Amino acid sequence: MIGVAMIGAGRMARVHAKAIRNTRARIASVYDVLPENSASLAEELGAKFCRTAEEAMSAPGVDAVIIASSAASHVEHIKLAVSLGKRVMCEKPLAQSYVGALEIHAHLGAEAKRVFMAFNRRFDPGHRRMWERIRAGEIGNVTQLVMHSRDPGLPPRDYIEKSGGQFRDMMVHNFDMARWLLGEEPVSVYATGSCVHEAWVAEAGDVDHSASILMTASGKIAVLAESRVCSFGFDQRIEAHGSKGMLLSENPTQTPLKFYGLGGTDAHYASSDRLKLFFLERYGESYAQEIEAFVDVVVDDADAPVNVHDGLRSAYISEAATRSFHTGQPVALNERSVFEDPIPKQKSA
Ligand SMILES: NC(=O)c1ccc[n+]([C@@H]2O[C@H](COP(=O)([O-])OP(=O)(O)OC[C@H]3O[C@@H](n4cnc5c(N)ncnc54)[C@H](O)[C@@H]3O)[C@@H](O)[C@H]2O)c1
Repeated sequence: MIGVAMIGAGRMARVHAKAIRNTRARIASVYDVLPENSASLAEELGAKFCRTAEEAMSAPGVDAVIIASSAASHVEHIKLAVSLGKRVMCEKPLAQSYVGALEIHAHLGAEAKRVFMAFNRRFDPGHRRMWERIRAGEIGNVTQLVMHSRDPGLPPRDYIEKSGGQFRDMMVHNFDMARWLLGEEPVSVYATGSCVHEAWVAEAGDVDHSASILMTASGKIAVLAESRVCSFGFDQRIEAHGSKGMLLSENPTQTPLKFYGLGGTDAHYASSDRLKLFFLERYGESYAQEIEAFVDVVVDDADAPVNVHDGLRSAYISEAATRSFHTGQPVALNERSVFEDPIPKQKSA
């Protein structure tokens, strides 16, 4: 049995704590900066309540650490866990800023490939099957990806203000997915966005819907369309078009039943077949698969299949997309382009 220290005791900590019950691991200790949060989660799990991150990570029987605290503390917690010789799984994003991501990547050196980045969408059964079938050559050379990611509703204003903006906070998931599915790094990004749903999002310095286009050196294109608002639930779809066919990873619904009427050729889902409401429900299986993959990595003392290199790369694309949005120009993905002329932190759309 692997002992795990849980750092942070909020939403994602609870998701991971639930998933870990079905694995060869258990939560041994819990630390959250808010003692009331750590106390309630520790009590629920029968784990040790701790007053510092170091106490939790050094508790008896702890082999690994899950970092599910707020983004601003990820770098500090990764450093501490690695210095104590623990295996780490860290929630996205790797760091609150690209500079922070660079710093932790450089600090870790060879250890970077052993720190597991929690890009859970790679573990979604539909998306993973798509990746496997692309790798098996079933649709030939993949030339285009079209990815949709729409949340059911806006988060609180306070969240938007601290998020770093839609490209860093939300689109980072699909920047990672695009790299993974295309099997090739993008060489340029063009990003745009605006506020069409709520004016206060612009006042808070962000956009409420956006799009990015990534291009690779061989000419592959990924189009990412994202929105903080969606009238019918959590809309998560990926289309991969290749030289020999197309794969679609659709929104999972409760039944595969579709209705066909005399009135037309359109098919639609039965009315009871609602979409999953949000990420906890839609990506539940991916979180379970992700934790299993992490526990395997710890047991086998293996490299992490998705790691700090991926965290840094997606942070880099997010940073470049934010720059593209601010300048209205495509950004070439070379190290210099992101460092020239620091971009303002926020901009009203
Ligand atoms: N992979 C996904 O699908 C997904 C979904 C949502 C959030 N996230 C990420 O997970 C992380 C946590 O998000 P959440 O939704 O659980 O947030 P949350 O606010 O529910 O929980 C965060 C917890 O961290 C604690 N915390 C803050 N600073 C801390 C520190 N220095 N030390 C210890 N604890 C600290 C807070 O008190 C809080 O209890 C974020 O990085 C977020 O981007 C990932």
